[in-house]
Amino acid sequence: MATVVVVGSQWGDEGKGKITDMISKKADLVVRYQGGNNAGHTVVVGEREFKLHLIPSGILYPDVSCVIANGVVVDPAVLKEEMDYLLDRGVEIKDFHISNQAHVIMPYHRVLDQAEEARKNDGKIGTTGKGIGPVYMDKIGRFGIRMGDLLDKELLREKLESILSLKNMILDKVYGAETFDIDELWTEYLEYGQKLAPFITDTSYLVNEALAKGKNVLFEGAQGTLLDIDHGTYPYVTSSNPTAGGVCTGVGVGPTKIDSVLGVVKAYTTRVGEGPFPTELTGEQGEWLREKGGEFGTTTGRPRRCGWFDATIVKYARRINGLTSIAVTKLDVLDGMEKIKMCTSYKYQGEVLTEFPVNQQVLAECEPIYEEFAGWEENTSQIREYENLPENAKLYLDRLSELVDCKVSILSVGPKRSETMVLDKFIE
Ligand code: IMP
Repeated sequence: MATVVVVGSQWGDEGKGKITDMISKKADLVVRYQGGNNAGHTVVVGEREFKLHLIPSGILYPDVSCVIANGVVVDPAVLKEEMDYLLDRGVEIKDFHISNQAHVIMPYHRVLDQAEEARKNDGKIGTTGKGIGPVYMDKIGRFGIRMGDLLDKELLREKLESILSLKNMILDKVYGAETFDIDELWTEYLEYGQKLAPFITDTSYLVNEALAKGKNVLFEGAQGTLLDIDHGTYPYVTSSNPTAGGVCTGVGVGPTKIDSVLGVVKAYTTRVGEGPFPTELTGEQGEWLREKGGEFGTTTGRPRRCGWFDATIVKYARRINGLTSIAVTKLDVLDGMEKIKMCTSYKYQGEVLTEFPVNQQVLAECEPIYEEFAGWEENTSQIREYENLPENAKLYLDRLSELVDCKVSILSVGPKRSETMVLDKFIE
């Protein structure tokens, strides 16, 4: 398989956890390149369910090396908790590496994230409240603390002195929020540094060494294309680059090292948080998808907004990420629906738009143009061969693939590892 990027091709929550888990089996290295514990992956192994937020799902395979690269933002408290959660369940954490350049989510980032959302009130983004926006702001503002800094007592003190004087002023005077004591933070974060020290390293070197040896590397994206800070539905986005381009800067590997990009798409569409969603179903059908698809956030537990599959979105994702194929997930959730719709383009002020509009004002006014499909009664989660799918399911998938102009290489019909069809051998 050489190197493959797995990227969310809608608004996140496409079921990347299961797909990355499946490809991880073939990988030597699994690398996360952006985002933080705003992500949530559910992986089902046999009868056991694992919920991961930060550590790559490759950790569930004993021979796979896992990397949290420089583009990721790390909340050490959450990381420690996740490591303990895995250890408690008998998962060994040995070949695991964290970039010394990854930025640290500090408690003031979490407070600022939540305080800013509260201040925005009706105009809020609907963030996960994990401090993601504020930590990336500090990174770009050159105000950040990096994982490597947790290993240097004096440097950490110096940085905290300078940063906290400003943060406390903002917390107190702007938001009327709690402030932080430097001694407490210093002690707590030095302790994290000591505990995590064996894992902190130059991960760009490590990944490039593996690439030079011809190892199989999986770059695991979190969130999705429409949540990308540059290419997503701004401002209703996250603060990193989940798109495939994020791998190069988020890991420190050149674009020439990437062989294929697999876009993960749900057989319908969901979105968490605020912002326009043209194919959203607010009535009974939306409720059906939410209940049957278990569409509640892994990280926040929030109900996800649900709607029909939107081909303009995935076509856009193909363009932005250079997708080489797609993995369609949760087809089984559509089992038993009498009619299924798929959005092919939009109507905007009397005109037909065939390309996804990046302007939010335009998107908010877009009306979906649908093609309607007859549903199927059969339970597809029992099926293991594409040929055995109900005829109507095949018609739906074939049209989906045609509209987004990308072949389907994986089809997922349930949460279990076994409930999957590999239609293309690129991952073998
Ligand atoms: P933040 O990443 O917490 O700043 O949230 C910004 C936006 O991204 C909000 O709309 C969140 O709901 C959304 N978001 C962040 N992470 C995820 C995810 O893993 N899945 C789906 N939506 C996400």
